[in-house]
Amino acid sequence: MSQIETLKQRIEQRDYTVGIIGLGYVGLPLVLRFGEVGFRVLGIDVDLNKVKQLNDGTSYIQHIDSERIKTLRASGRFEATSDFDRLAEPDALIVCVPTPLTAHREPDMQYVEGTATAIARTLRRGQLVSLESTTYPGTTDEMLLPRFEARSLKVGEDFYLAFSPEREDPGNPNFSTSTIPKVVGGVTEGCRELATLLYSAAVKQVVPVTSTRVAEATKILENVYRAVNIALVNELKMAFERMGIDVWEVIEAAKTKPFGFQPFYPGPGLGGHCIPIDPFYLTWKAREFGIATRFIELAGEINGGMPAYVIHRLGEALNDRTKPLRGSKVLVLGLSYKKDADDPRESPSLEIIEMLMEKGALVDYSDPYFPTFPSGRRHSHDLKSVALTKETIAGYDAVLLITDHSAFPYELIQKSARLVVDTRNAFRSRGFGGTNVVQA
Ligand SMILES: NC(=O)c1ccc[n+]([C@@H]2O[C@H](COP(=O)([O-])OP(=O)(O)OC[C@H]3O[C@@H](n4cnc5c(N)ncnc54)[C@H](O)[C@@H]3O)[C@@H](O)[C@H]2O)c1
Repeated sequence: MSQIETLKQRIEQRDYTVGIIGLGYVGLPLVLRFGEVGFRVLGIDVDLNKVKQLNDGTSYIQHIDSERIKTLRASGRFEATSDFDRLAEPDALIVCVPTPLTAHREPDMQYVEGTATAIARTLRRGQLVSLESTTYPGTTDEMLLPRFEARSLKVGEDFYLAFSPEREDPGNPNFSTSTIPKVVGGVTEGCRELATLLYSAAVKQVVPVTSTRVAEATKILENVYRAVNIALVNELKMAFERMGIDVWEVIEAAKTKPFGFQPFYPGPGLGGHCIPIDPFYLTWKAREFGIATRFIELAGEINGGMPAYVIHRLGEALNDRTKPLRGSKVLVLGLSYKKDADDPRESPSLEIIEMLMEKGALVDYSDPYFPTFPSGRRHSHDLKSVALTKETIAGYDAVLLITDHSAFPYELIQKSARLVVDTRNAFRSRGFGGTNVVQA
């Protein structure tokens, strides 16, 4: 039997080990899914704390239940490690490491490159490597393949290489790893076949495409699509606001059109690991071909300007109450970039808090997911989440809603606050649109 036929048989029989490199929002759900459908799973991460927590059966992601990790640990089929010498053990290596931007907003490929170099050191016959980190088209061919072939192994014959973008929507109860269709592109036909078979064991629908570049570009298209459409409604919000038109009501009406319209909603700015970042991977790559990605740049400009717009609206509303921003007490509601999630990455809240502080406002925050302020690479403050009572709320000159967590007591806030500035239409949509509520 040929090597690929043997590997396929071992996948079918679950006599196969899947290694997941990078155990974050993308990697951890994959660990659980592959483990739960019967594979042996080795999780690999540089973060010793995460490795320890997983081996202890504890989750560090709010929407992932520790019980699932405990059950998988008890099955004896899952282990986490920081030992990169063990990269030769798994039959497949799925790479889910971060792909952020540098300070100059260019792709920061150090994690992918470092992982590719580490894999290249131990790559062996039969191994399948699948990159899932979002990146520019060409990464798999240009950054991974040459490193692996330098070991005198031939792609498609000795080892297999694929790209399969992740489509995780953390915290969304309607979709899970297994129910979101997965796009897979291989460097060769054999690579695609093997990767398709492996993913088919874990997800309901696999969508094979003809190359890794197509798979890489698919993910970028999905994220550019969101970034551009969100920018569009953000721009319309500012225009309509001047005209005295409520953009939220307009969107509700427009979305009754049964074809050709998909609703996107305005907000205080983009957040998360994907939409504010990934489109710029394409912008960077397109420059190599003399192409300017103007839609991406414009969307970035508009979305990037939203925190300043929110501050402007808050300043106006305070001004109407003869208050300057300087010295005003402002309570920011929500630190996460999206509702009901515990993820503060790139959250506009953090930028807005800092801008308010720079302007001399006295800022506190309340967020059920962050009892203390999450310190990150760029933001760090000695703050604690304020408990929301009638008295605490009434003590602020303004309450500024950035993240519309379901857990906030909207009625109490609206009834107790002197002024509410709402960037998500969270109050009016719940029927609490009193005269103290201003849309931003
Ligand atoms: N979070 C999402 O919703 C989402 C959705 C689709 C795609 N993605 C993409 O998936 C990739 C991973 O994102 P994420 O949200 O899981 O990030 P994350 O920060 O939650 O997780 C990344 C993990 O990789 C680990 N890590 C960093 N360097 C490493 C290395 N050299 N070796 C091993 N582990 C390393 C980190 O410790 C961390 O645990 C990114 O490219 C992102 O754009 C994310």
